[in-house]
Amino acid sequence: MRTVHIDASTKYDVLIGEGLLDRCGELSAKVIKPCKCVLVSDDTVDELYGDRAQISLSYAGFEVKRFTFPAGEGSKHLGTLSNLLEYMARERMTRTDVVVALGGGVTGDMAGFAAAVYARGIRFVQIPTTLLAAVDSSVGGKTAVDLKAGKNLAGAFHQPSLVITDTDVIRDLPADQLACGAAEVIKYGVLYDEALFAQLEKGDWQDDMDGIVEKCVQWKRDVVAGDEFDTGARAFLNLGHTFGHAIEQCSGLSVSHGQGVAIGMLMAACAAGCPDDMVLRLAKCVAANGLKTHCDYPADKLAAAALSDKKRAGGSIALVLPERIGKCYLKKIPVTELKDWFDRAIERMEALGV
Ligand code: GLY
Repeated sequence: MRTVHIDASTKYDVLIGEGLLDRCGELSAKVIKPCKCVLVSDDTVDELYGDRAQISLSYAGFEVKRFTFPAGEGSKHLGTLSNLLEYMARERMTRTDVVVALGGGVTGDMAGFAAAVYARGIRFVQIPTTLLAAVDSSVGGKTAVDLKAGKNLAGAFHQPSLVITDTDVIRDLPADQLACGAAEVIKYGVLYDEALFAQLEKGDWQDDMDGIVEKCVQWKRDVVAGDEFDTGARAFLNLGHTFGHAIEQCSGLSVSHGQGVAIGMLMAACAAGCPDDMVLRLAKCVAANGLKTHCDYPADKLAAAALSDKKRAGGSIALVLPERIGKCYLKKIPVTELKDWFDRAIERMEALGV
């Protein structure tokens, strides 16, 4: 088992290894005295892994209550959050109890937000079951739900007390879900780590799942240690997100987050004027990991969708732009220029045939 220690306002470990789901109770009990816990998952994950998590937690002494909701980003709204909070209240959970988020980013974000606000804040444990959640959203304490006007518009910073990633579960993911997570791994490569990028380019990285997850979590640890509350360098983690969120919004959320980020990174590279060979290398890596490279939406619709992005600050927005593989920079632009950036990205992608 690998351990990455996160040094944030709450200090905690991210445990990474095979077979950890069946040990989640024992591992949680080392940091949280057994108490009442609400095990939150969507109906798909609940059917696959809910019983195993419950057995392990119960065996370790936790009194387990289960809350499930329909799978999908469409459930990440105030209505589901409200149902969860009311459920916790009906089960008479108190400040000393715990929320356990078993699932992907939607579950982690929503259960984490419930933990952040229930009784003014209770502890929570993340058990990510997607690669995307394992390498990004389960670590660093960002919790949220979507509003009609945009993704993640209502949320809070609330660090988990423990993150448990069972890499057997990640390896078992369907190909499209693994591809979504691969987009976030490619993102760390483009941001910080050319060697990691090269591993993803080769496509044999799944044999080294524990190492890949650990490497990404170590990058995330460094970012969170430097800027927990997202007022500075944490913004780099938004590489591909301004463009990608706009694609997700335009698709009515039928394009997944990872897919949106993958195309978004390509758009960022194109709009930033990166050399052709670098853009084509990035496109090849994205495609090699089962992700589309083509953007189906026009610049004016994308720019309108991007205006609801919470990364916008008043009249400006900070874009994360690649300089080369392994190095990016931030560029603040007036929101009135957004459409030009989308135009430039789309024209260049068309010219390069990606
Ligand atoms: N997912 C981006 C961040 O944690 O800041």
